[in-house]
Amino acid sequence: MDTKQGLEGVVAATTRLSSVDGEAGVLLIAGFPVEDLAPLATFEETTWLLWNGALPGAADLAAFRSRLAARRALPAATLDLLRAAAQRRVPVMDALRMASGTLSLTDSAGDTGQDAVILVAAFPAIVAAYWRMLEGKEPLAPREDLGHTASFLYLLTGEEPAAERVRGLETYLNTVIDHGFNASTFTARVIISTRSDLVSAVTGAVGALKGPLHGGAPGPALDMVFEIGTADRAEPVLREKLARGERLMGFGHRIYRVRDPRADVLAEAAARFYKNAGDSALYDLARSVEATALRLLREHKPDRPLDTNVEFYTALLLHGLGLPTDLFTPLFAVGRVSGWIAHCLEQLANGRLIRPQSEYVGERDRRWVPVEERR
Ligand code: COA
Repeated sequence: MDTKQGLEGVVAATTRLSSVDGEAGVLLIAGFPVEDLAPLATFEETTWLLWNGALPGAADLAAFRSRLAARRALPAATLDLLRAAAQRRVPVMDALRMASGTLSLTDSAGDTGQDAVILVAAFPAIVAAYWRMLEGKEPLAPREDLGHTASFLYLLTGEEPAAERVRGLETYLNTVIDHGFNASTFTARVIISTRSDLVSAVTGAVGALKGPLHGGAPGPALDMVFEIGTADRAEPVLREKLARGERLMGFGHRIYRVRDPRADVLAEAAARFYKNAGDSALYDLARSVEATALRLLREHKPDRPLDTNVEFYTALLLHGLGLPTDLFTPLFAVGRVSGWIAHCLEQLANGRLIRPQSEYVGERDRRWVPVEERR
């Protein structure tokens, strides 16, 4: 039997949502190069694009924004659960997973179209409400006049965010909205392929994203830049890490053999933001850490192309936007939820039950032994 451990290289479905070319370093989102779409679109537009296959016209966009805005209020039971989680200081991704399941309690949940809007609208509201609770603050009442991304920043801080902060975060959310058959997207598609429901599929996907091999590296990448501290320390610190057999966080990727195109989009967004904020010291440090890391990685592994991945500049951008490290992976979920749902809709429209096989390597020909005779 031809067993593909980890399903590596297996093509399990066709999709019109995103194309990941790891050799050329090209990511297309519904036909658009990510670097063209992410810095310009609102998150509502990118979500609509993935769900409908085309950019929305003005009337459709306005209606979609209103539908999302009307769904930001969380069920009382969701808030109760978040309060209980905050009392125990449950990590944010676990709180998001638990709260995600409770969205079935929202009015008119249970219909696929409604669930899609409820999930996208509620995810940032959950993350913001929970973060405030962890800080001993009350969650804020949602405002319907703000766009999706501005609303998240408002729900988090209570202040109406400046346009460039919104643009920076929106670019991040668009950049991570979809990325082929990654583990969490595959999880969502497996669940919905049984004709289960969207809330179940998305809740399962949150569980998959939580793992450190999938959504958990931006925090450590930022820690590494802070640990280095000044450009002249980059070489000795990184050399020592490599000599100890450590991996440099924010470099290497299972699929990309060249620079992850998402790193470019986020590096540019970070550069713009740090310059506007009048403080590019951390950005300049990160650029110089990156250049040194790439040089040392080429020396260290000449046969293995190791380049910058999405996590390196995610960390820098989100930190620059004033967002705490503990929210980096939850924000990944806030962006990816639209992609998970798009895949579920695609799977429901034309997919087959996903049911691979396994190769049995256990024992055979065993004989039953009564319990009193077992040793
Ligand atoms: N720093 C140093 N060495 C690295 C490395 C890194 N960031 N990434 C890979 N390598 C080395 C490995 O040590 C391994 O060397 P070996 O053959 O001597 O054991 C070789 O390159 C291949 O590594 P492997 O784990 O098989 O590659 P992969 O494609 O499965 O790994 C990652 C992909 C992302 C898991 C890996 O590059 C990594 O751990 N990166 C750091 C963490 C990170 O940034 N994660 C976010 C991903 S978006």
